[in-house]
Amino acid sequence: MSVIIRLFLAATGMAVALAFTPTSFIINRATIGPNRGSSSLCMVQGRGGGDNTYKRVFVAGGSRGVGRLVVDKLLASGSDVVALVRSEETSRELSALGGVTAIRGDAMDYKTVEGAMDGCDAAITTLGGGRDPRSDGKWVDYVGNNNVIEAAGVLGVTRVVLVTSIGCGSSKDATPPSVYEVLEDVLTQKSKAENVLIKYYTNMNWTIVRPGGLVSAPETGLSILTEDTTAIGSIHRGDVADLVVRALSSKNTERKILSAVDPSIASSANPARRTTEAFVLV
Ligand SMILES: NC(=O)c1ccc[n+]([C@@H]2O[C@H](COP(=O)([O-])OP(=O)(O)OC[C@H]3O[C@@H](n4cnc5c(N)ncnc54)[C@H](OP(=O)(O)O)[C@@H]3O)[C@@H](O)[C@H]2O)c1
Ligand SMILES: *[C@@H]1O[C@H](CO)[C@@H](O)[C@H](O)[C@H]1NC(C)=O
Repeated sequence: MSVIIRLFLAATGMAVALAFTPTSFIINRATIGPNRGSSSLCMVQGRGGGDNTYKRVFVAGGSRGVGRLVVDKLLASGSDVVALVRSEETSRELSALGGVTAIRGDAMDYKTVEGAMDGCDAAITTLGGGRDPRSDGKWVDYVGNNNVIEAAGVLGVTRVVLVTSIGCGSSKDATPPSVYEVLEDVLTQKSKAENVLIKYYTNMNWTIVRPGGLVSAPETGLSILTEDTTAIGSIHRGDVADLVVRALSSKNTERKILSAVDPSIASSANPARRTTEAFVLV
């Protein structure tokens, strides 16, 4: 890892975003490779939409990225959304969408999260972004996500989807050592949030989705969820959102930890283009 990249990462405070994105020189820009679809294991899991069973879904992280696309997909599937967002501008923008109640607040504050989630029947969190200097060096990746989990427990919101990252917990060895080194702090924080669910919420209906390197590009519709903890690769943000919303209402994702990758995208983290068995959502 060169000094320049390190400084760049430190300066932006967005280690995860950068280290996983194509511009970081770690994982290459998405390209459709020659062996696209050649493996029977590269199954397409179908498209989103349809029969979401939840009426009012709490979303933390809905201001941008994967979370913002999750909001759109929930609305398309017929759910109402309560989005906890920080900025006035985002609050206005989301409130303008029919079916969204935007609540302004900081996910680092437990009571704010609990108040916003009250009345929802499911919760999704894509919170991330690392250490917030305004919060005593605490990480939203742990504290924010943990607040969502705890509030769900207190309020009796039994369905929770936590979006973390490949490299967390049991998927540690999936990340190339050079990537893991850069992301270690943030992955440790996200793993702590995962462990709260895994260890203490054994009665809750949770699902952990660990995406690979995120790319902002149109959905391919070819991404997969997998229980294979060695899976590595890239995935477009819209495809993550699609998988998350479909996992939410799938009957067989209860207490599952699933990596999300797109086998149709070439990734320097998976130069051999090793394929992985897809988890079939029902
Ligand atoms: N970048 C990658 O390659 C990669 C790979 C694997 C996993 N991930 C993880 O996947 C998730 C989605 O990533 P993304 O890049 O699409 O989204 P992102 O840009 O990281 O979005 C993070 C979201 O968290 C919100 N947030 C952060 N701190 C908050 C706080 N204190 N209170 C309320 N909201 C707060 C942000 O709101 P504001 O708009 O107010 O900041 C934003 O909506 C993240 O958890 C990310 O760490 C990323
Ligand atoms: C868990 O959630 C799934 C998806 O909505 C649902 O099919 C299943 O019945 C839920 N399990 C419990 C115990 O609520």
